[in-house]
Amino acid sequence: MLAVDHGYFLGPTSGLEDFKSTVSPLLPYADTLMLTRGMLRTCVDPLLDIPIVLRASGGTSIIGKSLLHEGITLSMEDALRLNAAGIAYSITVGMDWERDTILDLSRLVDQAERYGMVVVAVTAVGKDLAKDARYLSLASRMAAEHGAHIVKTYYCDKDFQKVVESCPVPIVMAGGKKISEIEALSMAYNAIQAGAVGVDMGRNIFQSKDPVAMIQAIRAVVHDEMAPKEALNLYNSLKK
Ligand code: R5P
Repeated sequence: MLAVDHGYFLGPTSGLEDFKSTVSPLLPYADTLMLTRGMLRTCVDPLLDIPIVLRASGGTSIIGKSLLHEGITLSMEDALRLNAAGIAYSITVGMDWERDTILDLSRLVDQAERYGMVVVAVTAVGKDLAKDARYLSLASRMAAEHGAHIVKTYYCDKDFQKVVESCPVPIVMAGGKKISEIEALSMAYNAIQAGAVGVDMGRNIFQSKDPVAMIQAIRAVVHDEMAPKEALNLYNSLKK
């Protein structure tokens, strides 16, 4: 899953200033596209034939006072009208607004179930969190218990397998801030080896020196279980 929803709280973030030019060449290599409805309407070819996951939370910004105080920003009717396969909502387990975001998630699941819409719960949101296996297991399991169909969470070096094993729905790994290509490929590889069903990565693809090469290397890690060094060689061979 290619995550390019960042503008909903970051505006024209680095790499996505010209959304269309960056994202269009990546689409042939993405299985699913995660973005906001505004960018889907304005910057994506309506004939694009891969599943779409729409960001359904927001309302706050990176420069505002309470970034975590998100609410529901998308109706189920509009998600259906835009032919989305799923919607994504962030929960703030252990942080401010925890109760509001979990109740919102449950409300969205209720609505989504009526139409067969997939709900992706985005967990571990918040800068000051210890994103270790204990926390990630708690947040991921809670998301699943409240009805999420897929959980998106960060990778942790120790015991990520326990996070996956204690969550009854598929886990996709979020990429996080930009790291080196080999680090990102290794992280994706380790997450897949630990049982993650896939990745939902953004910055480590669109902020890479060569995003088109990087998405192909990540794709090889996810689909072919290509080892990180081999995937880096692939990236270097494709790099322009
Ligand atoms: C999460 O809340 C963001 O909206 C992104 O979808 C998510 O962080 C994944 O992108 P990245 O790999 O850049 O962390």
